Amino acid sequence: MHRTRNKKQRNRTGRIALLCSCALVFTMTTINAESRSAASDTEERVADLLGRMTLAEKIGQMNQVHAEADDPVATLGEALRAGRIGSIINQVDVATVNELQRIAVEESRLGIPLLVGRDVIHGFKTVLPIPLGQAATWNPDLVREGARVAALEAAKSGINWTFAPMIDITRDPRWGRIAESPGEDPYLASQLAVAMVEGFQGDDLSDPGAIAACAKHFAGYGEAESGRDYATTNIPENELRNVHLRPFRAAVDAGVVTLMASFSDLNGVPATGNEFLMRQVLRDEWNFDGFVVSDWNSIHQLAVHGLTADDRESALAASTAGVDMDMAGNVYLGELGALVENGGVDIEIIDAAVANILRAKFRMGLFDNPYTDPEALPAFGSPEALATAKAAALQSVVMLKNGNGALPLSPTRLDSIAVIGPLADAPYEQLGTWVFDGDPDLSVTALQGIRDLVGDDAVIDYVRAMETSRSRSTAPFDEAVAAAKRSDVAVLVLGEEAILSGEAHSRADIDLPGAQAELVRRVREAGKPVIAVIMAGRPLTLTNIVDHVDAILYAWHPGTMGGPAIAELLFGVESPSGKLPATFPRMVGQVPIYYSQKNTGKPPSPDEIVHIDEIEARAPQTSLGMTAFHLDAGYTPLFPFGFGLSYADFRYDNIRVSSDEVALGGTLTISAELTNHSDVPADEVVQLYVRDLVGNVTRPVRELKGFRRLRIEPRQTVTVSFDVHTDDLAFFGRTNELIVEPGDFHAWIGGSSDADLKTAFRVVADD
Ligand code: NOJ
Repeated sequence: MHRTRNKKQRNRTGRIALLCSCALVFTMTTINAESRSAASDTEERVADLLGRMTLAEKIGQMNQVHAEADDPVATLGEALRAGRIGSIINQVDVATVNELQRIAVEESRLGIPLLVGRDVIHGFKTVLPIPLGQAATWNPDLVREGARVAALEAAKSGINWTFAPMIDITRDPRWGRIAESPGEDPYLASQLAVAMVEGFQGDDLSDPGAIAACAKHFAGYGEAESGRDYATTNIPENELRNVHLRPFRAAVDAGVVTLMASFSDLNGVPATGNEFLMRQVLRDEWNFDGFVVSDWNSIHQLAVHGLTADDRESALAASTAGVDMDMAGNVYLGELGALVENGGVDIEIIDAAVANILRAKFRMGLFDNPYTDPEALPAFGSPEALATAKAAALQSVVMLKNGNGALPLSPTRLDSIAVIGPLADAPYEQLGTWVFDGDPDLSVTALQGIRDLVGDDAVIDYVRAMETSRSRSTAPFDEAVAAAKRSDVAVLVLGEEAILSGEAHSRADIDLPGAQAELVRRVREAGKPVIAVIMAGRPLTLTNIVDHVDAILYAWHPGTMGGPAIAELLFGVESPSGKLPATFPRMVGQVPIYYSQKNTGKPPSPDEIVHIDEIEARAPQTSLGMTAFHLDAGYTPLFPFGFGLSYADFRYDNIRVSSDEVALGGTLTISAELTNHSDVPADEVVQLYVRDLVGNVTRPVRELKGFRRLRIEPRQTVTVSFDVHTDDLAFFGRTNELIVEPGDFHAWIGGSSDADLKTAFRVVADD
């Protein structure tokens, strides 16, 4: 059975969302008529311009050049005048950008404006938490607002195109680029992909503060073997469709203007030359009418992969497969002309690629106004931008442990606080990876945040203790221990510097680096409560410290306003409310470990597993459980996906389905009661998981199907309802068709992927 549905249904995540989407659909009917006529105007303008272009000018539009040189006006002027450049990358001086635009528009034959690209990944001058941290907010509205802040600041520098959102699903914390990703789950990633596209692109792409987005890396990059960046990926088509392509589909449906092909090899065909991805899926199935850019020099790299022999063959492979623009490779510029002339590449392929690029430029209003007026946009680091960065940092922090109510701290009851660690006062490091333009001068560190909040109420004793997170010297630890002894509590700010995650920064060992675990143990000996605040670009394995600290706040790389957010959480001005967007393994050998695994034919259970230390000297091999677990790690993670503690005491009860059966095409409502049994007002992220018990391809043991961040007042009980349409249960089956199968389902509602409040329902055929 192949079911499709309209956008209203696809957007539905729950009752509240449903009401909103109905209202939206109503206004969209009027807008649709207008946008249809705008679209046909655009198509006419594209066709007219294309008809007037020479082959060289067409190839020029397919060429993006690096424009970071000292004097790009001098180095690029001639090529711009000759129409050999369609886009520049990495120039952020607004006067220079305007001058390059002026040359393109006023001094080239056809006056085609430039796309000005930059990696604006999680902020520009004002830096928001890394994308993995933003995913931990489980708050698409806030993520949208964050992308808006980034767009406004980037646009002020003349940028009109960002290479974000990065929406690669990954289940491998060794991979450095997990920092840039939305984590392990396709549903959460899809919601955030849409939010980011909407935030960057705004309501109208031609508005001065709107910038084109780029969903990347298409596709499968997050499965890099052993988490080594750029490594090979092998993903069966069914898994690709059910997991990795879903956020891209969501971004395309949300109107993302561009996609970027991945560097990686997918099932033997590097993504940059992968016709299945870019022609069959993206164009034929999804009707994408934006354009695809290669990754940096990735067309040239097709030969390095061994798919082609040289640049000529690489240009042929990439253009035929559907890469419209060559990022910083000069391969299209050098090879496409000859390929068209000798018949290797049809002119239709070139025309389609150029039309895709011109369409984007028209939609972005660049032909009407290619220039940037920085004065028309808000100042960098505006109060609004900082407020959004702080809200995102606050909601991104995940409390992983809070033993004996160690947190929150009370400034009035403490006389002295030891603040220890290499990341306590590290304005640049807290920004994380991909912050070309981030301004560390705007950063407020954890140390500063604590000082500001505590004021004169307590003495702050700061000891850095390690030069970097990687330092191995333990000599300064005596001073840290002494400070802890003098104080009422020790706050250790640990983790990884920015450089330990991001592109080409993968790790095989994901413990806290350097001598940090030793620092924890030494400070513990001081006998005072120990609070760990961890800043990192990935889930770290915390097994060797978790029992030596009283509480853990996992702050990712929290960005510009990390300090005030951490301080407010430490002192209970606000309750932690972040939830993990990726599973935390106990040890790295468990990777990949993720909540939506398959059941296997021999699923493990707590009673059956055996630990390596419990094996008798001459045990028969069959006595070891015979299920899918590790002898030294069991099968559960240290912290599951969706997990995060609160200062409030949330409990879930009374899960219900509106009816035990739902016909195909129908909707049922799954609800539960959530009570805040404490005196602390706090946000909780309520999560709905579903399991399809039998499928024509096996289904995960749980899949996230809805979530909602809610503010719950002290002693308040709310009923949280999720409307589930049977299309929300669809998956790609054995023949890779989207299907919903009648049968039995289980559902859970709770505050984590291991929620145990469970119900069941059945989907029945509709005739
Ligand atoms: C390479 C990265 O893979 C990609 O994500 C980025 O956008 C480009 N370089 C441009 O910097």
